[in-house]
Amino acid sequence: MKFLEVISSFSSLIAIVSAVPASLPITKRAALDDFIAGQTSIAANGVLANIGSMGARSYGASKGLTLASPSKSDPDYFYTWTRDSALVFKALVDRFIDTGDTNLQLEINNYISAQANLQTVAGPTGGLSDGLGLGEPKFLPNGSAFYGLWGRPQRDGPALRATAMVAYGRWLLDNNYKSAATDIVWPIIKNDLAYVTQYWNQTAFDLWEETLGSSFFTTAVQYRALVEGSGFASSIGKSCDDCDSQAPQVLCFLQTFWNGEYVVSNINGEGEIKRSGKDAASILASLHVYDSDAGCDDATFQPCSPRALSNHKAVVDSFRGFYAINNGIANGSAVAVGRYTEDIYFNGNPWYLTTLAAAEQLYYALHQVDSAGSITITSVSLPFWRSLYPSAAPGTYKSNTGTYSSLANAMRTYADGFISIVQKYTPSSGALAEQFDKSTGAPLSAAHLTWSYASFLTAVAARDYVIPASWNAGTPKVPSTCSASPAKGSYAAATNTAWPDFPCNTATSVIVTFNVLASTSPNQNTYVVGSIPELGGWDAGKGVKLGADRYTQDSPLWYGSVTLDAGTRFEFKYVKTDASGGIVWEKGQGEGGTANRVYVVPKGCEASVALKDWFTS
Ligand code: NOJ
Ligand code: NOJ
Repeated sequence: MKFLEVISSFSSLIAIVSAVPASLPITKRAALDDFIAGQTSIAANGVLANIGSMGARSYGASKGLTLASPSKSDPDYFYTWTRDSALVFKALVDRFIDTGDTNLQLEINNYISAQANLQTVAGPTGGLSDGLGLGEPKFLPNGSAFYGLWGRPQRDGPALRATAMVAYGRWLLDNNYKSAATDIVWPIIKNDLAYVTQYWNQTAFDLWEETLGSSFFTTAVQYRALVEGSGFASSIGKSCDDCDSQAPQVLCFLQTFWNGEYVVSNINGEGEIKRSGKDAASILASLHVYDSDAGCDDATFQPCSPRALSNHKAVVDSFRGFYAINNGIANGSAVAVGRYTEDIYFNGNPWYLTTLAAAEQLYYALHQVDSAGSITITSVSLPFWRSLYPSAAPGTYKSNTGTYSSLANAMRTYADGFISIVQKYTPSSGALAEQFDKSTGAPLSAAHLTWSYASFLTAVAARDYVIPASWNAGTPKVPSTCSASPAKGSYAAATNTAWPDFPCNTATSVIVTFNVLASTSPNQNTYVVGSIPELGGWDAGKGVKLGADRYTQDSPLWYGSVTLDAGTRFEFKYVKTDASGGIVWEKGQGEGGTANRVYVVPKGCEASVALKDWFTS
């Protein structure tokens, strides 16, 4: 073995981990379909990268826990949020069901096992015995409680988690894994449903973690969880009577957010909530209560319902001309969408996930009207339709009419427009941060936001009519008078996480992530160099340059990934360089030794592995 001890220039080293560029080079882009195809795999990998403990960007996160983003400062999103994780895993469950990708199933099982434990973690909102701890919004990435000041409790998390788990529970049942559904998944769902039945009528912080009051988004997802939770219970021979008693009350309350034109997203605020109430959270709610079998039901704000369409227009229009990057875009064309116009977080900007949500609602709506075979325009939805198709008039248009085609085409073009906006402001690396700048369009705030990637996946799946399973929303009857008599829940730790052996496809290639703690000074870089061509064949000049965007004094992390064939055996060492090009090989393995590191890429079901090393000197 010959080491190349000194080289003069590292300019040819490959940078594998690329940070989000500071400014946005808006290069000429391929057609929307090409963008979507390429961006889909980036988004899928982007989600997996943030899932502990093997994800390429998840160093520090425990097995099954998902980072909101690997960003450790400005903002620090290096935590696991119950909401973000549930929304992401709902998307992964649907993707697993669609693609049969068994690597996703491993991640899903790990997520569920991790949530069983997380439910028992007592923190500043309380513990499990009375359910209060389930309202804790976020935890440390090692699964312990976070005690910092925060907007807590937040009551959407348990409902969203129940929905994600029911989606997987149904798959288990349909595929003859009834005991996994009953013994592993149901006990976790049961706690979350108990939390919803007990606390739905109490105020909390909204999904944006800012407003203490009652939130439309939270109430909507709670309603769904109760209905499908009860349905799931019956399918495994159990029941949720409290779900059945509370669901109509929650549905009744949900109606009170509607003002005749749009959803007022936050009500009952302590102190006056000085906002219009137009908020993309209402569009998100529509996505998360979407049921392909529910038609254009107004009571549950289905994506194609007159209410949800009118609301879509009100929310999207509030951002028209509001951000500089939206200037000059005609009415009826897609614009960049933020959370709400009064937003001051990072000075208030459009977000990827809200812009994508605007598209996703419309794709679902199209699917719903396609299934129904007609579009009905009412006085409530007329302004929405007119903005897309100026001669639109109230009435019902069957799918074999020209009017139907014109309306549906206009809606699809409009929806695609939101994806094009996201395309325009996605850097060439495909990295999706949380926000993009309202004036320059450059990515902003948390880099590699897991929820941004998941939103991309669900929006483009909706565009392809890959439709999530129904939750039996039906055509619910709203009680004529609202009442609130919450049911006290009972809670118990879910302890069974012994998954059956699911068949899996052995991964043929594996993303191997090198994480090494190596203290360096500002001009130094760190590389991994090894015996295989992918690691430079011991030529330090051809090694893999590691990234330092998460380097801190306490955790001097350098990391980067390569994709290798399963079963590959190789030797390697870490190398540092300085500005003058000098290189320093790490000392090596064994006591006082100089031996190379040895690794064999596992031949198993996992498609990613992560090494966690210290630079030896
Ligand atoms: C952090 C929250 O996550 C975000 O939603 C909020 O806007 C900011 N804090 C400011 O309150
Ligand atoms: C801020 C967002 O407002 C909130 O919804 C989210 O849960 C956290 N960031 C983490 O992504």
